[in-house]
Amino acid sequence: MRHKLIVAAALALFVIAAGIASAEDALPKLTTTTPPFTEGIFPCTACHASMPPNKEKRTLSFHTEIQLKHGDNWCLNCHDAANRDMLHMANGDLIPFEKLYQVCGQCHGNIYRDWKIGIHGKRVGYWNGDKTYYLCVNCHDPHSPKFKPLKPLPVPAGPKEIMKIKGTVPVVIEDKKLYVPEYDK
Ligand code: HEC
Ligand code: HEC
Ligand code: HEC
Ligand code: HEC
Repeated sequence: MRHKLIVAAALALFVIAAGIASAEDALPKLTTTTPPFTEGIFPCTACHASMPPNKEKRTLSFHTEIQLKHGDNWCLNCHDAANRDMLHMANGDLIPFEKLYQVCGQCHGNIYRDWKIGIHGKRVGYWNGDKTYYLCVNCHDPHSPKFKPLKPLPVPAGPKEIMKIKGTVPVVIEDKKLYVPEYDK
């Protein structure tokens, strides 16, 4: 009797373990959004193929809209000097822009892990099917990734203050126009 119980328990454990293993095998395929390039900038080799790369850290006379504020990174830590249409890892492996999370993940390992399992960032799709992951650069500017602090809006009016609202004033936040109350002093 006792022996049979042990066998049954072992069998149950085996079935559970097999279930976990197959659930892992069935992880959804990782598809991402396309990198949000400015129109006309890609392929980079349209210009760079005929330009010798310049590895020197300097003030550029082109791409002047890029203000690099990202640790002490320089352009060619991420962009490949020989193939400008690609990024690269620290070991030199070429990475297409669609997989740029691998480049970011080298230095932001914890966030990368969270992103993969859906805790950081955003993904859309089916709970048990294909999912589309938002790339890091859909939210972060890779050149100046720190978010600027937002200006806090005034607190909403409570029941007692509602009568004191004179009107509303428009404020623009992230290109959206919001109307906030203006109080009678
Ligand atoms: C931390 C990695 C990293 C560094 C450092 C970096 N870049 Fe980038 N860069 C990227 C990624 C990732 C993209 C793709 C972003 C996108 O699709 O919008 C990008 C996009 C670009 C683009 C296309 C921008 C656009 O408008 O679509 C240009 C041009 C560029 N980088 C040039 C530079 C130059 C010049 C430097 C140095 C001054 C630099 N990058 C430093 C990662 C980096
Ligand atoms: C319209 C032409 C043009 C396109 C398209 C272009 N670049 Fe450039 N890029 C330049 C010029 C010109 C310079 C040199 C500026 C200087 O030396 O002051 C430069 C310099 C750079 C540099 C500094 C290192 C070096 O080799 O001089 C990086 C990094 C860079 N570009 C990345 C990119 C990336 C990434 C893209 C595509 C997303 C891109 N560029 C697309 C014209 C272009
Ligand atoms: C070579 C290492 C390296 C790579 C590659 C790299 N980063 Fe960073 N990142 C840093 C450092 C260093 C800082 C600055 C940390 C600080 O100031 O606290 C930073 C800061 C940031 C921040 C701001 C964190 C804050 O304090 O708010 C974000 C967001 C970020 N990186 C995103 C990215 C993304 C997205 C990529 C890929 C395109 C990337 N990083 C690639 C090293 C790296
Ligand atoms: C859907 C938008 C979104 C995507 C996608 C996203 N992030 Fe973030 N990330 C954020 C926001 C919002 C914050 C700020 C959270 C805060 O300040 O509390 C943040 C914070 C960070 C920070 C600073 C964390 C800290 O502890 O201060 C880093 C580093 C970072 N992200 C890297 C990445 C990397 C790398 C990827 C891609 C693998 C990525 N993010 C994808 C929205 C995003």
